[in-house]
Amino acid sequence: MNSRLAFALASLALSAGCVQALDNGLARTPPMGWNSWNKFGCNVSEDLVRKAAEAMVRTGMKDAGYEYIVIDDCWQVSRDGDGNIVADPVRFHSGIKALADYVHSLGLKMGIYSDAGSATCGGRPGSRGHEYQDARQYAQWGIDYLKYDWCNTSNQEASMSYAIMRDALADSGRPIVFSICEWGNARPWLWGARVGNLWRTTTDITDRWEGRGEQYGAGVMNIVDMQAGIEQYAGPGHWNDPDMLEVGNGGMSDMEYRSHFSLWAMLAAPLMAGNDLERMTPAIHDILTNREVIGVDQDPLGIEGRRVHHGSDGWDIWVKPLTGNRQAVLLLNRGEREQAMTVKWTELGLDADRSVTVRDLWEHKDLGTKKGSFSSPVPSHGVVMVVVQP
Ligand code: GLA
Repeated sequence: MNSRLAFALASLALSAGCVQALDNGLARTPPMGWNSWNKFGCNVSEDLVRKAAEAMVRTGMKDAGYEYIVIDDCWQVSRDGDGNIVADPVRFHSGIKALADYVHSLGLKMGIYSDAGSATCGGRPGSRGHEYQDARQYAQWGIDYLKYDWCNTSNQEASMSYAIMRDALADSGRPIVFSICEWGNARPWLWGARVGNLWRTTTDITDRWEGRGEQYGAGVMNIVDMQAGIEQYAGPGHWNDPDMLEVGNGGMSDMEYRSHFSLWAMLAAPLMAGNDLERMTPAIHDILTNREVIGVDQDPLGIEGRRVHHGSDGWDIWVKPLTGNRQAVLLLNRGEREQAMTVKWTELGLDADRSVTVRDLWEHKDLGTKKGSFSSPVPSHGVVMVVVQP
């Protein structure tokens, strides 16, 4: 069988649910952590990364479940005469191994970034042709997570390119979460589960509610609209990734950031904070550490939420099955005015006359037993997020 045919059959089998997912035992719930890119771009250094790790512990984010500290693009400058990747000797003067040791000493895990092409999006050396050498190097440094980007890949085929690094990571002997960052063009939800632990489904997020970024990128509502209908491809060990969080970066209101965070939890999305952890307002801290909302994201069933209502009324309703016969329900008001919103039990697959207990995850309050439906005022660009239990 030629390799194209084998690949086509494998993709078909996977989308029909017949092929096992990548079996590295990692990311059984969506990964949680912090990544340098959204706030700091190329301005990374060991000092920045150490301080982010310390802040993750000090602020209680670690206790809330955040674990991975990921250095995104621009940590690397060249390759040496043997082809080994070289970290920026000025910005990372102690070396990546010492930094990873420090991050581990805080009880956290270390992540790094590379690219499947000849160069990263920031123009640094990519891993093409050096996959096994790089994977061995990461393992020697103590890396636990690799984000692998898709710039400068010319006519490379995506699933095969990513499979090379998957195999290289497996060969390295160290368990390393594999984060595919292909932006959704090659429909990675169809093949990602057998290649990586998570895959970006869209272009880059930008720190705004709706619309396009200045050069590229998409606002939170645009990204969310691209997630509806691909939820069946996610599950323990293999997640759709609608990109990292913008919560706390200044382009949206606290209300909008609360909605952004709630939506990511409903999507069983990786929760990678992308803000300056050292300088969070109390409101942003409370959003990022809301354990009841995080509990929805991290529910061990690992079922991604689905949109059950998307109306011209500006309402969206999302539903996510949870353990213990519970369901999380998110009422999202995309309109410009406060509205009273209603979810009917029949929209949750429950009998119309069923009595169901309702708990509000942002008010941290039991709202009692409701029959048939639940209604609440929802502010403009805000959410009401509840867990219901028959
Ligand atoms: C791409 C990725 C981003 C980020 C940058 C770094 O745009 O999608 O998440 O990693 O590259 O250059």
